[in-house]
Amino acid sequence: MNRMLFLLLACLSITAAAQKFEGLAKTPPMGWNTWNTFAGDISEDLIKETAEAMIENGMLNAGYRYIVLDDCWSAKERDAEGNLQADPAKFPSGMKALGDFLHEKGFKFGIYGCAGRKTCAGYPGGRGYEFADARMYASWGVDYLKYDWCQTGTANAQETYKTMRDALFAAGRPIVFSMCEWGQNSPWEWAAPIAHLWRTTGDIADCWDCKREWSMGWKTILDMQVGKESFAGPDGWNDPDMMEVGNEGLTFAESRAHFSLWCILAAPLMAGNDVRRMSSEIRDLLTDREAIAVDQDPLGKQGFRFSRETGREVWAKELSDGQWAVCVLNCQDRDAAIKIVWKDLSFLKGDYKVRDIWNKKDLGTTAQDYNGAADKHDVVFFRLAPIGAQP
Ligand code: GLA
Repeated sequence: MNRMLFLLLACLSITAAAQKFEGLAKTPPMGWNTWNTFAGDISEDLIKETAEAMIENGMLNAGYRYIVLDDCWSAKERDAEGNLQADPAKFPSGMKALGDFLHEKGFKFGIYGCAGRKTCAGYPGGRGYEFADARMYASWGVDYLKYDWCQTGTANAQETYKTMRDALFAAGRPIVFSMCEWGQNSPWEWAAPIAHLWRTTGDIADCWDCKREWSMGWKTILDMQVGKESFAGPDGWNDPDMMEVGNEGLTFAESRAHFSLWCILAAPLMAGNDVRRMSSEIRDLLTDREAIAVDQDPLGKQGFRFSRETGREVWAKELSDGQWAVCVLNCQDRDAAIKIVWKDLSFLKGDYKVRDIWNKKDLGTTAQDYNGAADKHDVVFFRLAPIGAQP
């Protein structure tokens, strides 16, 4: 072989080895994850019942495809060959069988691992086992890997996550790579060539703005997204953590605002409630086609906070075809009147038709001010479509 050709092929194979699987998350991934409600209390039965419930209640049809087992699925130790293995009491049929079950039902199979020596809950970590673990995940039919950051000591985050990316690529099965280093090393600045999504903060809790030992309310997490919007886009999303929609600590208004704003953020929509037992109100919220279309808009832009006045915030997201989504959050601890003078929203160009997403109503145009109201910690949420040619 001529020398130039050899060098060219060598270069190509090096580039081919050092990449993530492209195109797996052109819009933010949607699904359900065990952690927020069940923590370590998970099993094969729970996963199967959840999958059946998501078919029944319309979540699968609405786009929630990934069912993700978070921490605590594995046995306490690796097997004699050093392989990861499922906890035989929780998952007696094993992971390959569970993956097959999920695929037959039309879902994708997600799992959790950790870059450190142990997972956050003390199960075997991936450090030093990356290539073997990636091959194991691939053999089980895994489609999505959430990779945590506990017990990593002085490891370099960028290098560590690159190793796992390369291991996944070498294993040959397209797997969405979800980084979970809690925003500690500003992953939004470097993670796009490595992962399809990356957590930007510590853990979410089911409250408005409480602070717990390891977690915080969704409003606190929302505030921490300001300024990160330019780093997100198709195949590389900021992840403000899985949803608490429908969980005990939130009022319905708070769940609705949380969901609306995660859609504005183009956040991965990972439900974290018990979908076998949710109210019809929460089901309707999570499966709302118009809200989901804001999140999943193909332009792939994360929204931004346009203004913050006493007691309220205006958030906006550019959509395809010159459309916009606008969400006004009532931050006050009481119900409030909401007035919007559309011409004050300086990102708008010309007039738009106004669609009220939660009231399922066309409201006329941006030529008329909006005069409405929102409950404590609730939102009003609109899609604006341009009228005629843009100036
Ligand atoms: C960390 C992650 C959480 C969850 C737990 C599991 O705290 O940030 O999302 O995966 O670990 O132990």
